[in-house]
Amino acid sequence: MQKTFVIVKPDAVQRGLIGEITARLERRGLKLVGAKFLAVSQELAETHYAIHKGKPFYEGLINYITSSPVMAMVWEGPDAIAAVRQTMGATRPTEAAPGSVRHDFGLEVGRNLTHASDSPENGEAEVNLWFKPEELVSWERATDAWIFE
Ligand code: RTP
Ligand code: MG
Repeated sequence: MQKTFVIVKPDAVQRGLIGEITARLERRGLKLVGAKFLAVSQELAETHYAIHKGKPFYEGLINYITSSPVMAMVWEGPDAIAAVRQTMGATRPTEAAPGSVRHDFGLEVGRNLTHASDSPENGEAEVNLWFKPEELVSWERATDAWIFE
């Protein structure tokens, strides 16, 4: 089963949307296997967004993600990376599909509410960056057989 790393970003936390966003992933059938609420350090932000260093939006992005607490989560499911990115919608809220989180709650790319891993390699690296192995929970969900074929 594939794992993906999700951040409910500071804007979504401030706006009281942790429950709304988590509920959408739960309803879809994805399984929560890790979660923590934390203030992101400068160092963690810079490691997580190292790929964007040097881009014009990099400093704003680091300021945004460290500005207020976030909810960091790991979700599991078949093709979880693609499924979660679809639930979140395109990076720019004005290009995100109606019904997606970024469409339904956002307007600006710099306040786009969530992060989700974009490939299996990055997913694994991000899970390992944000969570210790013992912070992940492997569990049997009573509904698994009715969601996972
Ligand atoms: P994320 O990593 O947060 O899931 O978003 P993403 O894959 O859809 O987008 P990515 O290209 O990885 O960009 C990371 C985050 O940087 C901010 N951004 N701002 N001003 C801009 O043009 C711009 N482009 C990207 C967004 O917060 C985006 O989620
Ligand atoms: Mg990305």
